[in-house]
Amino acid sequence: MKVSVSPGHNINGTLILPLFEGSEAVPDSHEAGLHTALKGQINRILHDGDFKAKQKSTLSIIGGEGGKAMLVGLGKENDADIHAFRKAGAAVIANRKKAHGTDLTVQFSGASIEAMGAFAEGMLLRDYSYDHYKQQDEDEDKEGEIDVRVTCDEGQEDELESVIKIHAGVASGVHLSRDLGNCPPNDMYPEAFADQAWEWAKQYDDIEVTIINYDQAVKAGMGGLVAVGMGSARKPCMVIFELNGKKSGRCPLLVGKGITFDTGGISLKPGANMDEMKYDMGGSATVFGTMQALASTGHKGKVVAITCMAENMPSSNAQRPGDVIKTLSGKTIEILNTDAEGRLVLADGLWKAGEFDPEYIIDFATLTGACVVALGHEATGLWSNDDDFRTRIHEAGNAVDELAWPMPLLPAFEKEMTDSKIADTRNLGAGRWGGANTAAAFLKQFVPNRNYEKDGEQITWAHMDIAGTYWGAKTNSMVGNGATGIHVRTMYHLITNG
Ligand code: BES
Ligand code: ZN
Ligand code: ZN
Repeated sequence: MKVSVSPGHNINGTLILPLFEGSEAVPDSHEAGLHTALKGQINRILHDGDFKAKQKSTLSIIGGEGGKAMLVGLGKENDADIHAFRKAGAAVIANRKKAHGTDLTVQFSGASIEAMGAFAEGMLLRDYSYDHYKQQDEDEDKEGEIDVRVTCDEGQEDELESVIKIHAGVASGVHLSRDLGNCPPNDMYPEAFADQAWEWAKQYDDIEVTIINYDQAVKAGMGGLVAVGMGSARKPCMVIFELNGKKSGRCPLLVGKGITFDTGGISLKPGANMDEMKYDMGGSATVFGTMQALASTGHKGKVVAITCMAENMPSSNAQRPGDVIKTLSGKTIEILNTDAEGRLVLADGLWKAGEFDPEYIIDFATLTGACVVALGHEATGLWSNDDDFRTRIHEAGNAVDELAWPMPLLPAFEKEMTDSKIADTRNLGAGRWGGANTAAAFLKQFVPNRNYEKDGEQITWAHMDIAGTYWGAKTNSMVGNGATGIHVRTMYHLITNG
């Protein structure tokens, strides 16, 4: 999608008209560029109450002599915040048919630059489909790229253009995350992810990608990553992204769970819906997408991301329940269930993060089914060792309409996870209750202290369980289906707003 800005009221292609509930006529300011027949038709529809402008509703006018239009509802004017504008923009694209054509002109009346930007953002985000694996029907005439023109008042164009440019960059990060998540697991395996990161980095001068391959991971002592990935012919790796890495000072550091397919390993999952476990690399997709959002918008600060990539397969080389493994931190883990594998790769990723002396660490992981039981597909589970930091992330999520809900990190959960007769810790709670919380408590053990000092202060850390929100979120209006790309926007907001 291409979005441009132009002052005035010329209409190119289909007119997109966002309206508040109760609008009875086309706003006066729009009349200049509007064909009288189309204006009459819209006014009749509004006057007769045939379009109520409820939030996200649309009505298409096609076939009249005055040109084409789509009315889109913003809901009640008093309630119409930027989220309403973003959702309305997404609704336009969700309801756009071939008959509307690819040239669209959006005309607002009296909306703020922020609101107009959010509307364009919704259009950009919703303009996504994953059809790389479908054969193109040669007879079907291909639709070109959607060309959107947003009209504004004289003097607003420069500011609006720069706002939309940022939204377009961030949307490209969301779409990258979705592409990675939607990619079938026969093509998205650890090395394929690493190759893609390597190729991607070439377009930016300020990005560096480092790949720690299987042999190097073994040598370095990344026992968690190695144990999970060794059962697969597709060997595990760690991919590290550094944006403006040469800059000095502490920076945000993101860690991603990247299980390119989770069969459960020897503790095999049941067969039903196992295909959904291709999304188990959603955490790594989130951080890769965030790096794209930051790099493409020219973020000047330093940011590091660590993705822990492995495929969890049952085989004669796979780890077993009963094994004891030694992680990068030196801590040993008794493996009680090989399906609790995300926490094992993250144990090494979190420990590795300490080497960068980060300001804070946030990990993203499709970690537990228990989190989906607790919060459904509506909210990400959010844990932190710092209450203020947790609130900051919660608020960053609210600012972009990506809900992350505070969850408790309790000493009792941590105790439950360290109760092993044979090792320092275990990868399974004592029972099935509170499974998302015990998983978070497990991770906390691998968050290093500053400079790895034994009695030092633990680095500020948050854990985000996106098992329910990375895919299957039917009520997310920025997404049609498949991977959601959630939290690229939350992270962009958090990192760029201090
Ligand atoms: N990848 C799964 C978690 C998951 C479940 C993500 C459903 C998305 C949807 C994870 O590796 C897993 O299998 N977790 C187990 C942990 C248990 C064995 C302690 C789970 O949630 O059942
Ligand atoms: Zn699992
Ligand atoms: Zn998993």
